[in-house]
Amino acid sequence: MNTFKSVTVFAPATVANVGSAFDVLGFALESPGDTVTASWSTLCGVQISEIKGSSIQLPTDPDKNTASVSVQTLLRNVSKEDWKTLRLDERGISLSIQKGLPIGSGLGSSSASTVAAVVAANTLLGELFNKSDLLPFAMEGERIACGAAHADNVAPSLLGGFILIRSYSPLDIIPLPCPSSLYVALITPDIEVRTSDARRILKQAVPLEDAIKQWGNVAALIAGIFKNDINLIGRSLEDRIIEPNRADLIPGFYDLRKTAHDEGALGFAISGSGPTTFAVCASEETAQKVAKALTSTCNKLGLEGRSFYSRINPLGAVVTETMV
Ligand code: HSE
Repeated sequence: MNTFKSVTVFAPATVANVGSAFDVLGFALESPGDTVTASWSTLCGVQISEIKGSSIQLPTDPDKNTASVSVQTLLRNVSKEDWKTLRLDERGISLSIQKGLPIGSGLGSSSASTVAAVVAANTLLGELFNKSDLLPFAMEGERIACGAAHADNVAPSLLGGFILIRSYSPLDIIPLPCPSSLYVALITPDIEVRTSDARRILKQAVPLEDAIKQWGNVAALIAGIFKNDINLIGRSLEDRIIEPNRADLIPGFYDLRKTAHDEGALGFAISGSGPTTFAVCASEETAQKVAKALTSTCNKLGLEGRSFYSRINPLGAVVTETMV
């Protein structure tokens, strides 16, 4: 057991779904991300001491905040022996959250806080769990955030790279290789889309013809990732099932897509449930050009928007500071 007084962890933004692979694939970005410090507290259980950097009021009630709910779940899984050794009847964990990600942006904002919190708490507790064992705890935060414990944001934010979720029950996650020549250009229009709303509008039945097209694309997307074939990744983003429903939630979606393709992107899709969209590019130069053009299209549509570009982050959540 270590003797840290506090542990600070950075967890990155993520792109979930990756076009055609709704709820089963996601990847981590280099930045932005959220940072959480977990410290020992004289109060038992989990508390939120502060939340900084958010433009909207987030819950500080430990039973309602995604980060604290995940740490509560982690604590419920501590063995009786470790509970006693760590004196968890006499003290608890306090979380200080620094948001680097806008809420409802499609960049996995709640996941990044949740992941940073569970990794920080686990490190404070002396690494009782392996990193990948923390995933089910972090998924409980997603359940609070949007009503569904999907893992396509939390898994890549935790573990880095591209993560495929083959099955939710039982949970079976498969880390994939990081295509070395892949860059993504992203734009986040200055509007909020709530994941719960973006899930509510989805149709529950899928025509067989669309399903066939979709599983062809998902399979080809995975093949493209293994082959480091950016063109194949780009054209396999095509989403016949979810995007037609969600595109209307993003003003100018089709204009942004055209801009990305005109500037040399090889594919374009909604990041998570939006409003961020992302374009697959085969070089840094193209990604830079696409990001710039996306901002200008967004502005022409009368919207503020922040564009940026990134490679795939292979690390996921990392401890950035400890105090002994
Ligand atoms: N797979 C989820 C969805 C991700 O698209 O609803 C949301 O962040």
